[in-house]
Amino acid sequence: MFKLNTAAVGLLCLADAISAYVPVARSVEHSTILERADQIAAEYDYIIVGGGTSGLTVADRLTESGKYSVLVLELGHFQNGTAVNTVSGGISAFFDPTLYFSFPSVPQSGLNNRTIGVVGGVMLGGSSGVNGMQVMRGQKEDYDRWGSYFGPNTEWSWDGLLPYFKKAWNFHPPSPQLTKENNIKYDTRYWGNTSNVHASFPSYLWPFISENQPLSVPSPECVCSLKPETQVAAFGDLPGVEYAPDSGSGKPGVIWWPTSATPSVLRSFARPGHWDGVETRSNYHTLVDQKVLKVLFQGKKATGVLFVPVGSTDLSQSRTVKAKKEVILAAGTIHTPQILQASGVGPKDVLKAAGVPVIVDLPGVGSNFQDHPFSVGANFNLSNFNVHPDPTDLQTNQTFIAIAEAEFAANRTGPLSVGVTNAGAFLPFPVIAPATFKSIADRYEAQDPAAYLPKGTPPTVIAGYQAQKKGLAKLLRSRGASVYNVIMRGTFTVENVVYLHPLSRGTVHINTTDPYFAQPLVDYRALSNPADLDVLVEFLYFTRKLFFETRLSAYGPFELVPGANVTARADILASLRDNMNPSTFHPIGTSSMLPLELGGVVDQKLLVYGVKGLSVVDASTFPDLIGAYTQQTTYAVAEKAADLIKARA
Ligand SMILES: Cc1cc2nc3c(=O)[nH]c(=O)nc-3n(C[C@H](O)[C@H](O)[C@H](O)COP(=O)(O)OP(=O)(O)OC[C@H]3O[C@@H](n4cnc5c(N)ncnc54)[C@H](O)[C@@H]3O)c2cc1C
Ligand SMILES: *[C@@H]1O[C@H](CO)[C@@H](O)[C@H](O)[C@H]1NC(C)=O
Ligand SMILES: *[C@@H]1O[C@H](CO)[C@@H](O)[C@H](O)[C@H]1NC(C)=O
Ligand SMILES: *[C@@H]1O[C@H](CO)[C@@H](O)[C@H](O)[C@H]1NC(C)=O
Ligand SMILES: *[C@@H]1O[C@H](CO)[C@@H](O)[C@H](O)[C@H]1NC(C)=O
Ligand SMILES: *[C@@H]1O[C@H](CO)[C@@H](O)[C@H](O)[C@H]1NC(C)=O
Ligand SMILES: *[C@@H]1O[C@H](CO)[C@@H](O)[C@H](O)[C@H]1NC(C)=O
Ligand SMILES: *[C@@H]1O[C@H](CO)[C@@H](O)[C@H](O)[C@H]1NC(C)=O
Ligand SMILES: *[C@@H]1O[C@H](CO)[C@@H](O)[C@H](O)[C@H]1NC(C)=O
Repeated sequence: MFKLNTAAVGLLCLADAISAYVPVARSVEHSTILERADQIAAEYDYIIVGGGTSGLTVADRLTESGKYSVLVLELGHFQNGTAVNTVSGGISAFFDPTLYFSFPSVPQSGLNNRTIGVVGGVMLGGSSGVNGMQVMRGQKEDYDRWGSYFGPNTEWSWDGLLPYFKKAWNFHPPSPQLTKENNIKYDTRYWGNTSNVHASFPSYLWPFISENQPLSVPSPECVCSLKPETQVAAFGDLPGVEYAPDSGSGKPGVIWWPTSATPSVLRSFARPGHWDGVETRSNYHTLVDQKVLKVLFQGKKATGVLFVPVGSTDLSQSRTVKAKKEVILAAGTIHTPQILQASGVGPKDVLKAAGVPVIVDLPGVGSNFQDHPFSVGANFNLSNFNVHPDPTDLQTNQTFIAIAEAEFAANRTGPLSVGVTNAGAFLPFPVIAPATFKSIADRYEAQDPAAYLPKGTPPTVIAGYQAQKKGLAKLLRSRGASVYNVIMRGTFTVENVVYLHPLSRGTVHINTTDPYFAQPLVDYRALSNPADLDVLVEFLYFTRKLFFETRLSAYGPFELVPGANVTARADILASLRDNMNPSTFHPIGTSSMLPLELGGVVDQKLLVYGVKGLSVVDASTFPDLIGAYTQQTTYAVAEKAADLIKARA
């Protein structure tokens, strides 16, 4: 999540980056990339569809022993330019629209019929190559809730995933000096240090974020009566807010998280982490710039895939390749359900409408779609702000820019080592709404589970939502989970309130006129469940408390959105419908890991129900959202997926 995304997504939502694709010559040779599609073998043990965050992680683990042959088919290509590698500001990749897809959602009736930009990475490395590089883990309760959907005999839990979180990331602590100056909390016991995917801290923090750092440039007009403690400390002025011991401790609260960057300040993502340097693995082939259209079946057994060169809609150019053991889908939450449905695995009504022969009627495919909404709560401006330097100096202050660039060039340290940011709050609902959390949770739990799902939702999907509803009502009453998130960027505008557990559920369905080449119909169904409105009204009240009832009040907070005059519930809701964006680019749930009778698409081993030899390993398998952004968990789930696949090899 980052500051400029509203504008960026708005500008780009009409430009489909895939159709705008232009091949770019690579300067670096990788013998694992097959130069031509006709160089592939006739069959491999495993075919991985999508060389993104999860796909490259699984491919690395499956090929390291040399026992299995693997082909990765990826829509994008090798990307290693400055836009991808730059850490500073965290969003440089977002300015290059050839690095991601972006197309409009279905108009959102809950948002005055606005369409929303549906965005995800397209390259070797997928979304990990364009994301905001913020690395955080959900709460213990989130992963235990996932397991609870399977009853007591589950291997999915916090304890079950912790070894994979450790395996997935190589943690580099902040320097002792930075830690001391800013009172950064971290604990290496929650981390590993073997992965080639790195999580590290910048060497610098903006003074307004940090807890103890003296403001480096005091000026006559500064608010000198304030203690030199700032955004992070302000949370401590609010009752019930706790500071977690580490961003990976599984506890909610105010946290410090690392950036997915190497200690030498290059973006660390799935391609350099899991793919570079594997040239010597003759059992591992990669074919880029290819679009997989469908999985091929013999009876109910997945036998391979059909694909075309990217940009082509000519089926005479299509090729097939066989998988001896498994076809592994890792095309991401938006495209994995498209491929499943286009292959005949999905809700039979949708498949029939599209003229796709039904291999298995699997109602859950494309249901249970979720993402983290943002632009909720309120946006504030501190009109009395006088802390220098702050991130705006990197935009406007030429002296500061020159100093920062010289330091980065000489030592790779200083302000240019900072990504989006490394601090923020992930807060439980009882802390946000101490007076009303219980009644809101009770009212939500008493809902008819079908009432706010699309008409005609299959019974198993409704049963799955009923199970989630129980889990989420519990979450709304819990002090061990988080629903409210705001990140602290060290400047005078605050506009990053994110809703971590939306209760509305959307859908991703193939376009019935053109299932293979048209983008799927993505419907967030934003605010379709009225319980979301109850929660979000409380978010506004709490955000006001954060600015007016803490030390931040001395900085002259001014409410930009929705505005101080907006107090009546109806007016707050009108503002939400005007301003909320249902996607922070953390889509999940469209191939949920849930029991079949709860609308599941994959079982606990990540195998697709009703067929053989087909699994899903990407973020679409998350049954519901976590109280954190999604990349860290995507890598951990993929690490576990690789072990599950090897165990049945
Ligand atoms: C702009 C942005 C910012 C984000 N910021 C953060 C952040 O700061 N912190 C955080 O934790 N998370 C963040 N995320 C989320 C996180 O990056 C994702 O949750 C995670 O990377 C998803 O991994 P995945 O493997 O499910 O999918 P992806 O990594 O997206 O991989 C899917 C791959 O499949 C390929 N593909 C798709 N269709 C086909 C097809 N038909 N044939 C062949 N290949 C195909 C795609 O090109 C892509 O490479 C952000 C995401 C985005 C997009
Ligand atoms: C990618 O770019 C970085 C930074 O320029 C460089 O260090 C690295 O070697 C490059 N990697 C590959 C595989 O080309
Ligand atoms: C949204 O579109 C629907 C269908 O076109 C229409 O009935 C409805 O009035 C529109 N709502 C708004 C707020 O414009
Ligand atoms: C890596 O972690 C292990 C186990 O916690 C520890 O013994 C070792 O010192 C660590 N290595 C480095 C380089 O930090
Ligand atoms: C926002 O804050 C900045 C910095 O204090 C100030 O210059 C600006 O006038 C403020 N804008 C509004 C709309 O309050
Ligand atoms: C610009 O940055 C320099 C170096 O940090 C600082 O001395 C100066 O006060 C800044 N100027 C403004 C207008 O903030
Ligand atoms: C680089 O680091 C060295 C050693 O800490 C320091 O002396 C030097 O001033 C730094 N260079 C710049 C340009 O900041
Ligand atoms: C579905 O695909 C067709 C053909 O490409 C296109 O004309 C139509 O606009 C698409 N429908 C939607 C709702 O996107
Ligand atoms: C709040 O004030 C703004 C600006 O004056 C105005 O446009 C808006 O209609 C007002 N909203 C309410 C609910 O009074």
